[in-house]
Amino acid sequence: MKVEEFNALIVGGGLSGLRVAIELVDKMSTAVISKVYPLRSHSGAAQGGINASLGNTEAGKEDSAKNHAYDTVYGSDYLADQDAVMLLAEEAPKIVIELESMGAPFSRLDSGLIAQRPFGGAGFPRTCYAGDRTGHALLHTVYEQCVRKGVKFYDEYFLIDLIKVGNNVSGLIAMDIATGELVVFRSEMVVLATGGFGRIYQRSTNAIINTGDGLGAAFRAGIPMQDCEFVQFHPTTLYGTNILMTEGARGEGGLLYNTEGERFMKKVASKAMELAPRDIVARAIETEIMEGRGFENSYVHLDLTHLGREKIMERLPGIREISMYFAGVDPIEKPIPVQPGQHYSMGGIASKYKGDFGETPLNGLYSIGETSCVSVHGANRLGGNSLLETVVFGRYVGRAILKKGKQKTLAQGDVKKVVENALGIIEDLFKTWNSNTGKKPVEIRTAMKNTMDVNVGVYRVEENLLKAVNDLQKVQKDFKSMSIETDDRKFNYGLIRALELRNMVDIAEVTAFAALWRKESRGAHFRTDYPKRDDEQFLVHSLVLQKKEGLIMGTKPVTLGIFEVKERAY
Ligand code: FUM
Repeated sequence: MKVEEFNALIVGGGLSGLRVAIELVDKMSTAVISKVYPLRSHSGAAQGGINASLGNTEAGKEDSAKNHAYDTVYGSDYLADQDAVMLLAEEAPKIVIELESMGAPFSRLDSGLIAQRPFGGAGFPRTCYAGDRTGHALLHTVYEQCVRKGVKFYDEYFLIDLIKVGNNVSGLIAMDIATGELVVFRSEMVVLATGGFGRIYQRSTNAIINTGDGLGAAFRAGIPMQDCEFVQFHPTTLYGTNILMTEGARGEGGLLYNTEGERFMKKVASKAMELAPRDIVARAIETEIMEGRGFENSYVHLDLTHLGREKIMERLPGIREISMYFAGVDPIEKPIPVQPGQHYSMGGIASKYKGDFGETPLNGLYSIGETSCVSVHGANRLGGNSLLETVVFGRYVGRAILKKGKQKTLAQGDVKKVVENALGIIEDLFKTWNSNTGKKPVEIRTAMKNTMDVNVGVYRVEENLLKAVNDLQKVQKDFKSMSIETDDRKFNYGLIRALELRNMVDIAEVTAFAALWRKESRGAHFRTDYPKRDDEQFLVHSLVLQKKEGLIMGTKPVTLGIFEVKERAY
């Protein structure tokens, strides 16, 4: 059995994990374990930009961190913790300048300043961008710094389970995908930065790697999942493949039309129009389609033709390429067919803001980025705040770990027993899968995705949510008798997909369970049977835990006090 030891382990090679690694590597031995080569992580798919109140664009008007924080809290439908949001907004300009000094190739104004575009729900053009490939540019920039500083990488290793001794984390077990070997990684500090879990849905902008691996491992280790009912549906994903069509397209002036040639956003957001926040635009599009004003009953038009060739080529070259390759439409000449699709998870592993930043209820275990819920996005994230969260909080999680300092490794005897037990459970699981005659992973995965798409989508209602909960209980049952060949483990991607499914079925169940519990409409969670926000009963974070008797729901207060709670209108 191979055993590797580090002061700190980071699981996930996206922007969050890499930014933590940069903070730590000079002071303690640090390794990044990643399911894919880091440059293939999903951060690279982020298009439109990163928010910071630099105030570069509108001469004569000044933006501020407080404006940024206000827009974020208002956009979150007041479920975001206001102190955490304030920190995010205050740190934003500094982190963008840090990225610039690392060499990030931001688009520029003629003056040489970083260019900023308008984004949904923002009262100021504060989204800094690199064309429409911002995530790609930042990921390369931050990865270069990791390589320069000598961060140790374990690429193509799959996190299977955490090693937990009492209430402390003491490392993890991962599979080397190339050899199929199980490897023990020992550390008393583990950071989960595995991204989101969008692939529990079929219609999603997420890469197929976004299967909630960190969340699944944490959930099995007894850590609560916070606010998972809040799933962001991006309004404009390409019809057919659901590839992201950046909000930056609307930021640059793109317009939405139904079959009647009407700019339907005027009905729900007469001021902000196409630049209302995502929850509102996604619902508006879904309504047009449901009421028969969608093309082929499935999509609306995102029209960029009036922007002209030059602007599209300069600001939105990736969008043009994707539309041409995947939908056969050149947006210089014709509108793009778009529909809402799952994009982001506001919820995640319950993690601290106060005290040890990012730490979970398990000592030494941290989470960051889309994996975590701190919470700065509340019920609806604003575009451009997720790239921001990865780098700002990456620095803060790193600092929290440094402050704690190198930890004494737990007594070998205790750990040995726990590791043997954990390895035994995994080997037994593989043997059972091998000898089962039940359904194949693909059948189970399809059933899970179908019920999530149909019953836990943009619009939700009790009857459908109950159906989803029942369907997912059946999915869990089928998963237990799932059949898959596990003897040949070298590059056995069938086995990796099965292990991913182990995480997804749990998190899908948590999502549906929490959506059924929340009997109100707030942000991205819209219940047609409870169409109003109910602050009296539900201005709280949800916390789902796994107990022997099944899932149980707890709550935790939202941190308010900076901005007054009021109705949203755009
Ligand atoms: O539309 C977009 O470019 C997505 C940005 C984001 O999710 O922050």
